[in-house]
Amino acid sequence: MTPNTIAIDGPAASGKSTVGAKVADALDYIFFDTGIMYRAITWTAIQHGVDISDEDAVSKIAEKTPIDIQPPTKADGRSSDVIVEKEDITWACRKPAVDTNVSTVAAYAGVRAALSQQQRRIGLRGNVVMVGRDIGTVVMPEAKLKIYLDASAEERAQRRYDEVIARGEQANYAEILTKVKERDHVDSTRDLAPLRSAEDAIILNSDNLDIQQVFEKIMALYK
Ligand code: CDP
Repeated sequence: MTPNTIAIDGPAASGKSTVGAKVADALDYIFFDTGIMYRAITWTAIQHGVDISDEDAVSKIAEKTPIDIQPPTKADGRSSDVIVEKEDITWACRKPAVDTNVSTVAAYAGVRAALSQQQRRIGLRGNVVMVGRDIGTVVMPEAKLKIYLDASAEERAQRRYDEVIARGEQANYAEILTKVKERDHVDSTRDLAPLRSAEDAIILNSDNLDIQQVFEKIMALYK
């Protein structure tokens, strides 16, 4: 039987996480942001002083580091708690140093093998909304509904800028825009599981839509 999985893929800061969490909430499904796992491994590698260009060392970290994603214990805008080595890294793994390095880490075969296997296990249980880059193409190709959520780089950088400012942190729009473009480039040109829409995905461009409108479109498609 096809599991009740909704796959939402798309480039950086396209609104996947916000809208995915809202859809999961409405359907009483689990929300699973797969990007968090790549971020957690990147953060752990940096923390351990591992050279990010050392593919073997980074892959070993992905193979042996358990990442705990649990229901949120704080009402500070998080959709889950991310725990690694007993430390709450929910916000730490969204820092600029992680943004800069995560696409390099996510392109490594050993890292992808370790993480996508765990993601697929969760997807197969069903009743889950999964967001990422390769959910519809590689992790859960049998998902019931596949959405590819897109928006212009400028719009996405603006959204990410607003998020960072809302958390009370410093942000620079031009820098965010450059990083978003760099990350998209690496994510879509890598050999393994590159960012692209699945053939049977529905492409939604959210440039002129707010979160509520995207949410309503996805709910209508699912029904
Ligand atoms: O939230 P944002 O859109 O900025 O990114 P994210 O979903 O947290 O993902 C961070 C990075 O992890 C991406 O830029 C990809 O390099 C990688 N990723 C991936 O390769 N495959 C996934 N399924 C999810 C994320």
